[in-house]
Amino acid sequence: MSVVDNISTKPATDPRSTGGPISKAGQRQLPKLGEIRELLQFRPPTLNPVQRRLQAALSIEDLRRIASRTTPRAVFDYVDGAADAELTARRNRQAFSDVTFMPEALHSVTDPDISTTLLGQKISMPLVFAPTGYTRMMHHAGETAVARVAQRNGLPYTLSTVGTSTVEEVREAAPNGQNWFQLYLTNNEALNDELVDRALNAGFTTVVLTIDTSVAGSRLKDVRNGLTIPPTLTLQTFLDMSRFPYWWINKLTTPGIAFASLRDYPGSSADVANVLFEPGLNYEHLTWLRQKWPHKLLVKGILNPEDARRVTSLGADGVIVSNHGGRQLDRTPATLDVLPDVRAAVGENATVLLDSGITHGQDIIAALALGADAVMIGRAYLYGIMAGGERGVERTIEILRNEYRRGLQLLGLNNTTKIGPQHIHGLGQVNAPRS
Ligand SMILES: Cc1cc2nc3c(=O)[nH]c(=O)nc-3n(C[C@H](O)[C@H](O)[C@H](O)COP(=O)(O)O)c2cc1C
Repeated sequence: MSVVDNISTKPATDPRSTGGPISKAGQRQLPKLGEIRELLQFRPPTLNPVQRRLQAALSIEDLRRIASRTTPRAVFDYVDGAADAELTARRNRQAFSDVTFMPEALHSVTDPDISTTLLGQKISMPLVFAPTGYTRMMHHAGETAVARVAQRNGLPYTLSTVGTSTVEEVREAAPNGQNWFQLYLTNNEALNDELVDRALNAGFTTVVLTIDTSVAGSRLKDVRNGLTIPPTLTLQTFLDMSRFPYWWINKLTTPGIAFASLRDYPGSSADVANVLFEPGLNYEHLTWLRQKWPHKLLVKGILNPEDARRVTSLGADGVIVSNHGGRQLDRTPATLDVLPDVRAAVGENATVLLDSGITHGQDIIAALALGADAVMIGRAYLYGIMAGGERGVERTIEILRNEYRRGLQLLGLNNTTKIGPQHIHGLGQVNAPRS
């Protein structure tokens, strides 16, 4: 019972009605300093400003707000924004908000086991760091910092083809981590071969082929801010950036930002951008990759159940239900809405991940209840890195982990594996037999 439940609005005895002795509880007394001290628990002040603002962040939305104050507007918009009218991005969030849980009563939840097994590997909770390009633009600590946090927390990290660190640098930063490589197929076959070979040699365990980026999405904020390849910064963007001296000093005193894995490709960044994203991407490329890559292979950007069935029948170990966080084709369905059909199409043996819109531990529960094995987060950890570098990413995980664990407990579950459709109101029988 909470403290609030204990407070009664009625006096213990009502002196007017009984005429009896006045209750002690109703009598005034001199203030006792000891009681006030008990009520006010002063925390020692945190002198480090980064630490202080991270401690004050209680939700991913708090981290987002901090990030908007610590990072130049154009950079924040690049992360926060989505394609065209941003309809898909809003739908993603709405789908999670629309979920109503159905808890189970009277199961012990003393010490819930929030870990799970993904692609044959144990991970500490059903969460994977999604690939995000240009991470060192958000914060100079960049991809290697995220990979370190992932390793420390027993979670997989996915490095993007357009990351600002190489596979070798990530391996050095997180030699014992579960490191995955996300492949954007380019229109240069030799380069594709090289990218996959380097990931293999660096000990990466899983390749993620992204298929929803045959051409770049139309992110209007980036065009307006001039954050394009090559950059065409407006005067306003430049002036705004000058308000963030720390960001600039960090940028100017650390190695320049470039597509690290494509550094050796001849030409300017515009030339590199021209080979990126193969608009001719098709099933033959998937067959090529399946033959070339000896380990786990996931296809990212699946929304259509028939596509999911086909890629798994061609040998992919699983799919990532994703609309790229609403950054590619606008007006696609929310990923959560198509998840049950994708799961039904691929069956129980394939791995199904979901991303786009995860900002709360309970979103993870909703995704698992509707058929996912785990989720990926993109912006949630980028807000963390913008708010406080490596420690900010750590804070992202802390927040999501606490929310996820508490959500499980309040649902009456002591294990990740027990989450099922019966925990979504209207979808199943409560107390249905569980495996
Ligand atoms: C700034 C940014 C950069 C991204 N870069 C890539 C990328 O290089 N490759 C890729 O497959 N997905 C990329 N994504 C998409 C993410 O992998 C992921 O699908 C998406 O962020 C999930 O949505 P969420 O941000 O709402 O969690 C990027 C997303 C963001 C926000």
